[in-house]
Amino acid sequence: MNRLWLLIRASSALRSSAIDGGRNSGVPILLAGGGACREIHLWSSPMASMTEWRQNMTSESGPDKAAVVEREKDSSAVEKKTETEEEVSSYWGIRRPTISKKDGSEWPWNCFMPWETYQADLSIDVTKHHVPKTFIDKFAYRTVKLLRVPTDIFFQRRYGCRAMMLETVAAVPGMVGGMLLHLRSLRKFEQSGGWIKALLEEAENERMHLMTMIELVKPKWYERLLVLAVQGVFFNCYLVLYMISPKLAHRIVGYLEEEAIHSYTEFLKDIDSGAIENVPAPAIAIDYWRLPKDATLKDVVTVIRADEAHHRDVNHFASIHFQQQKTTLIEH
Ligand SMILES: [Fe+2]
Ligand SMILES: [Fe+2]
Repeated sequence: MNRLWLLIRASSALRSSAIDGGRNSGVPILLAGGGACREIHLWSSPMASMTEWRQNMTSESGPDKAAVVEREKDSSAVEKKTETEEEVSSYWGIRRPTISKKDGSEWPWNCFMPWETYQADLSIDVTKHHVPKTFIDKFAYRTVKLLRVPTDIFFQRRYGCRAMMLETVAAVPGMVGGMLLHLRSLRKFEQSGGWIKALLEEAENERMHLMTMIELVKPKWYERLLVLAVQGVFFNCYLVLYMISPKLAHRIVGYLEEEAIHSYTEFLKDIDSGAIENVPAPAIAIDYWRLPKDATLKDVVTVIRADEAHHRDVNHFASIHFQQQKTTLIEH
């Protein structure tokens, strides 16, 4: 069972690369059980739905003959593609496992499985703050406060948009830290003490925040451009920083998480005041955080804020941990 779990988790990047938003889209994933690997196929159902949808549209709208022929061509192309995929699937022994919800309906997500869902710990203290004492702490704190200035100017109180953009950045540090610790573990032939997994899970959790936010806010072209630029700069800066001083890197992330908590608190205030409509929660959020079916945006923002508080504590703790180690990744 452990082997099964590890392989599923190891393949999550592969799955999520083409199924952001969580819906089936056609990427095979690896699944192992009882010591043997088998692959599973994910996409025959959406293709069938697409065909059905096209057929329904044809009969309802009464289109002209040319349009009907064109749609039939499309439909048969989809069916042929499905057949081809099924042949390939059959050749490689790939089969999609049947995963059902408790109510018997099919599990619709591939970017996370039912056993990866959880209920957020809402009892966590969202007001906790690490008072900067050392030079490194103060440097980290000032850096984050400085980074907040352009963010405030650009987004002002558009918290949906702000959250979506910031989550694209927030998911980077965990991946960079996890990757570097993974490489160090390989180089030094030593265990990581659980840090690799913790950081990669943080990155995955942040990415799920983003997958939730994009169900609510659609990014404009210039915002997508901004994400590209920011990711290019931030990833490289954080990579170098983490190699030089993991302690400072985690302290900065700890303060970034404090800012994220502040942003989501303001988001909640705007929902309460009516400035932001308290729309129904996206289905992906309901399943990921095990929310009730009638959950709303306010519930989603509340659980995301609790996650951020957890990240804050982990990163401030990690900063202390790496300080105690008195080591850098470069020295090793
Ligand atoms: Fe987040
Ligand atoms: Fe976070």
